[in-house]
Amino acid sequence: MTQPLSPAELARRIPKAELHLHIEGSLEPELIFSLAQRNGVSLPYASVEALRAAYAFTDLQSFLDIYYAGASVLLREADFYDMAWAYFERAHADRVIHAELFFDPQTHTERGVSMAAVIGGLSRACADAQQKLGISAALILCFLRHLSEDDAFATLEAALPHRAHFIGVGLDSSELGHPPSKFERVFARCRELGLHVVAHAGEEGPPEYMWQAIDLLKVERIDHGVACLQDPLLVAELAHTRLPLTVCPLSNLKLSVVNDLSAHPLKRMLDAGLCVTINSDDPAYFGGYMNANFVQTVEALGLTRDEVITLARNSFEASFVDADRRSACLQQVSSLARVQA
Ligand code: ADE
Ligand code: ZN
Repeated sequence: MTQPLSPAELARRIPKAELHLHIEGSLEPELIFSLAQRNGVSLPYASVEALRAAYAFTDLQSFLDIYYAGASVLLREADFYDMAWAYFERAHADRVIHAELFFDPQTHTERGVSMAAVIGGLSRACADAQQKLGISAALILCFLRHLSEDDAFATLEAALPHRAHFIGVGLDSSELGHPPSKFERVFARCRELGLHVVAHAGEEGPPEYMWQAIDLLKVERIDHGVACLQDPLLVAELAHTRLPLTVCPLSNLKLSVVNDLSAHPLKRMLDAGLCVTINSDDPAYFGGYMNANFVQTVEALGLTRDEVITLARNSFEASFVDADRRSACLQQVSSLARVQA
């Protein structure tokens, strides 16, 4: 009989899905500098170290300002490919076997980059992730909520020739002051088109934004959603419907949503019966990829092996993968769970 793994070691080894990852947030400073050089883009930082030193965020907006500046080095199809491929190699090392990647086309098209270059490079990396690493991967196009709904409609139009290469839409960027209600019509159109729909809500915003995401946008998952604990009725609704919440602990720590990981609400959310998953959000900026999020959260909150297994299972149950692949992934979790539970 082999010794059971510690919860942290089990978290490292268990197969998992990543459902909340902004691919532009996986751009490491070294890659930002090498793409800047390749493309002749000048950066307002003298070195990789100087850039990294600027990653001292106080809230979501202070992060977004640097995040959009970092993305300015992405110009060609190959840049998008290289960024996504670097992410997949790291995800593979963390036992991520399925990934649904957010991308922010408006950040690029407003600089004159074509939609074809953005989606072409990212989708080619997804195909290679499947073929070379065995990771099933898909893309989710995010609308920037600080821009108008008309802008979101124009972005959707520009993306539709590439419809085969993305499975859904999301809503991200500055949350406060930009409620889901602002995007009700464009999300209705996306649902008509058969796209999956998700939205960031309850990261810095109030539970009311989560209700709007549910009632007006009719989302299939909420990204973050940690504000739900402020509203017992909302918690009851989420427990009843099992609407998944893609939680990002290190992001919440770095953006001061929580002061310390030991105060993170993830365990309370699990205890309330919510379908919670762990994700990395913008790992190059927040101090770690999937396993760093998993392991640090397990250690800070004292999560058990059973809770680790639940989190891994939730990640596949909350994913948009097809039924065959979902059961194959869950089977892999069960094989490990059988010897570890
Ligand atoms: N874009 C990239 N990361 C984000 C986050 N954590 N919240 C909102 N928009 C984002
Ligand atoms: Zn996010």
